[in-house]
Order: sequence, then structure tokens, then C-alpha cells
Amino acid sequence: MKPKVYITRKIPNEALEKIKETCEVTMWNEEDQPVPREVLKKEIVDVDGIYCLLTESIDEELLSLAKNLKVISNMAVGYNNIDVQAATEKGVMVTNTPGVLTETTADLTFALLMATARRLIESSDYLRDGKWQTWSPMQLTGQDIYGATLGNIGLGRIGEAVARRANGFGMNVLYHNRSRKIEAEQEFDLTFVDKETLLKESDYVVVLTPYSPETHNLIDTLELELMKNTAVLINTSRGGIVNEDALYQALKEEKIWAAGLDVFEDEPVSLDHPLLTLPNVVVLPHIGSASKKTRTKMANMAAEHLLHALQGKKPTYLVNE
Ligand code: DGY
Repeated sequence: MKPKVYITRKIPNEALEKIKETCEVTMWNEEDQPVPREVLKKEIVDVDGIYCLLTESIDEELLSLAKNLKVISNMAVGYNNIDVQAATEKGVMVTNTPGVLTETTADLTFALLMATARRLIESSDYLRDGKWQTWSPMQLTGQDIYGATLGNIGLGRIGEAVARRANGFGMNVLYHNRSRKIEAEQEFDLTFVDKETLLKESDYVVVLTPYSPETHNLIDTLELELMKNTAVLINTSRGGIVNEDALYQALKEEKIWAAGLDVFEDEPVSLDHPLLTLPNVVVLPHIGSASKKTRTKMANMAAEHLLHALQGKKPTYLVNE
């Protein structure tokens, strides 16, 4: 008998066909809308595998309903949407998709940094809104990138890839991480500092750490107070790492200069969110890894992990080893 698999969103065909070769597949086919929880609660009961996205919360309640589940394959590197401990206790494997999205996410992080520093979105709107009457000395002036100090909060794969880009832009790069990474320090000319020093000295603070209870609101009022009033905060990791109310206050009171956000605590972010009222905030709809090649690779990798787990092999990226 073929193993049963539930896929929580329409995924690229290549990945879908691969899974269909050996599994009985049910896929939530509603065009680009997350599967309702009530549907997922029913579907999880009998399946051997779940292929999901970061939009699904696979928590203890949901897991308690599963009778045959062996694997949850998440099409994302972040897996804060899954209760890994509950899955482990139930003997369910959890997999993610690191590596394939590193460079694409680092590109977006840098693009967001540049767009925020040089006010690209605001400038484009300025022109389109017919406000461009003349060239003038201080019109739409931003912050320099060349020669500035970048502070990476977190130095995983994406952190290193961002540091490499910063090297090319002639930036001085600081980082703070749970542990020092001596090889990376040498390769990318990085300086390890404590969090306080990083916040005080950086012109760009880039949040690149995974989201967990320990990193919830890691950037809060106190941290924002430490930053320069010319500093820019960039977050392409997870929204909950930054306290959004504190960030709004800091931006409004000009304690920091600007922010670039690809992620929000609640996604999609409400159009009434106070942060969206500020001109010095560049916002994006969680598109860090959104290149055609990378999303296809992520989809294929998640399919491969799912199939390996169902065939009794160890998936390459198993979160709960
Ligand atoms: C991830 O993979 O965790 C990103 O947030 C989406 O690519």
C-alpha cells in the first residue's frame, strides 16, 4: 500500500509528480490560500506524511490527532511553525530546507538594506506622485553603505552570505552569535562583539537569527535605545524577533533612522499596522527566498526529505536528530 501524504498548498509540479510516483497524495488546492485548520485537523489523522509551509502551525493539538504520521516536511529553513518537541515525543521526523535558499535570502537582505538606506521606494513614489520639481542638494538624501559598519545578529549560513556581500561594499562587519566562528571571522574579516557593542556601533543592524522562545523580542525598547539615531534595522528572519511596538516608537521618536522589514509578527501584516504609516519603513511580504530557482529547489528538497523519511531512510536535513 502506498503511504498517504497531505500537501498543504499547491506546490511546483516537479515536486508534486515526484511524490505522486510512490505516494497517495491529497493536496489543498485552493489557489494560494492556507489550508483551514479544521481541514488540516481532519487530514492529519490518517496520513503518513505532511508536506507543509511556514503558514501552517503544526502544534501539539494537531499532532495529538495523528495516528500514522512519520514525517513533517517543511518547505522552509525556519521551522518555528512546528512544535518540534511534540513531534519528537511522538516519533515524528521534522525536516527543513537549509542551504538552497542562502544566497537568494542574502541577496534580498542586501537589497532591502540598500533600498532602506537610500530611500528607494520613497524616491520612486516621489517621482510617480509628481513631486519631482527640481534637483536639490539635500533632496531624498539617505545613509552611506560604503565604509559603514554592519552588525549581524546571528551568523548562520545566511549571516555569512550577508557578510560576504558587505565585504564587497567596503563595510566593516561585526557579528554577535551564540558561539564564535573563527573560520568565518578570518574569511570575511568579521569582529565578534557582545550584543550591546554591536547595537551601539553598527550603522546597520541585521537580524538573521532563527526564531525561538529565546529570540522572541530580542530587539526591544532597550536594544533600540542603544542604537545610533542614524542606524537602520533590517529584519529578514522572523517578525517576532523584533518587538514591533517598540520599533514603531523608536522610529517615530527618531531614536533610529529607518527600518527594512521582510517579516512581521503576524503575516500577512494588517494594512492598519502603525509601522506601515511611517515613510522611513520599507516593507516587503516575506520574499527573502522568492526567486524562481530557489523556490523550486526548496520544493524539490522538501519532497525528497518526505520521500526519504517514508522509505525509512534518514533525510539529509532532519531537525530532530
Ligand atoms: C524560510 O525558509 O524560513 C523563509 O522564511 C522562507 O523562505
